[in-house]
Amino acid sequence: MGPSSSLLSVIAGIAVSACAGKGSHDMGTGGGASGEAGVEPAMKGTLYDAGRTCAQTYCSPCHWKGGQHVKQPVAYPAFQVDTYDEWATGQTIITAVLDKWNPDGTVMPPPEAPKDPPDDERKTILDWVRRGSPNTPSGT
Ligand code: HEC
Repeated sequence: MGPSSSLLSVIAGIAVSACAGKGSHDMGTGGGASGEAGVEPAMKGTLYDAGRTCAQTYCSPCHWKGGQHVKQPVAYPAFQVDTYDEWATGQTIITAVLDKWNPDGTVMPPPEAPKDPPDDERKTILDWVRRGSPNTPSGT
């Protein structure tokens, strides 16, 4: 099942403010905002809004080619979220780092990340990944 529509609007609001806030924070912004001209938004080709928005908001500062975080040069070679296909092939490793209740490796996002997902959003995206990140509007 997908998240409630109220959760979706909360996530959408976060994404909008992440874009609108570009330049107003001293940390890397990332998100759905395009960094340099010509760089496509992260998670290209992802039909599931909640999954795309979560990854854009919480992972793209470091794992997207347009990411602006100081750790991006270290993080990007390890894992990328430029496209849906890159995300989908990472099922096992994403589960390992996203499941903070039972982690296998470094929990993501790390403490220095600009934003950390609240538990309900983390569970939503984790459940989607556990289902194999189905690329459908409902994520099921
Ligand atoms: C603040 C920067 C930052 C953010 C934001 C971030 N990561 Fe990372 N990530 C890193 C760094 C740095 C590494 C490589 C070093 C390490 O493993 O600690 C990494 C490594 C990874 C790896 C590879 C782990 C391995 O063992 O090979 C995965 C998968 C990953 N991140 C997933 C995510 C996901 C999913 C998100 C969003 C929910 C995310 N990261 C958000 C910095 C970040």
